[in-house]
Amino acid sequence: MRYLTFALGKGRLAEKTMQLFEKIGITCEEMKDKDSRKLIFVNEELKLRFFLAKGPDVPTYVEYGAADIGIVGKDTILEENRKLYEVLDLGYGACRMCVCGPESAREYLNHNQLIRVATKYPHIAKDYFYNKKHQTVELIKLNGSIELAPIVGLSEVIVDIVETGSTLRENGLQVLEEVCPLSARMVVNQVSMKMENERITKLIQALKTAIQQEG
Ligand code: PRP
Repeated sequence: MRYLTFALGKGRLAEKTMQLFEKIGITCEEMKDKDSRKLIFVNEELKLRFFLAKGPDVPTYVEYGAADIGIVGKDTILEENRKLYEVLDLGYGACRMCVCGPESAREYLNHNQLIRVATKYPHIAKDYFYNKKHQTVELIKLNGSIELAPIVGLSEVIVDIVETGSTLRENGLQVLEEVCPLSARMVVNQVSMKMENERITKLIQALKTAIQQEG
């Protein structure tokens, strides 16, 4: 039997994923050592390998088959737009992609004006404004602390992830429109899905059952 390789988005998502996997009997003791700088972990018995990657790189590893399976946020799947199968909503990491800004910016969204939109997700933002709203906008790519942009006058609005809403609240911003709901998803390489169909289908089924039991 060959190894089935998993690419996990580093951080909280990977921790949640390993907790879920433990429930279906997939453990990886090596991975629990928080101080370790090791990037790849093996479960010899089950012939599984896990590696940690930056979230936006997970779909890349999966498309090229360097990983058979990836666990990554829906935001990253939409932004990266890679050729892969999205097979399961894992439920955790639930949040929303939203257009946000000061209340005073709401009118710019209603009157189809040429505004500036700052975001870490230019493809999602472009698709939303051009294809859904038919509004021409100027997109400005940022890499973090997106909420700063409307405060310092870089853009009128932002497209960003809202989880609890506290970052917005503490900076005097609001959700103006919702783009889409987000959560962690399992993605599969298209060739792996055919070659390892039985193993992968069993895994999906076991995960589904575990998720349902959690409620
Ligand atoms: C994300 C997101 C928002 C914040 C939303 O940023 O971009 O800033 O979390 O969460 P909240 O609604 O619970 O406040 P992250 O912390 O990942 O860092 P970043 O600003 O570097 O993207």
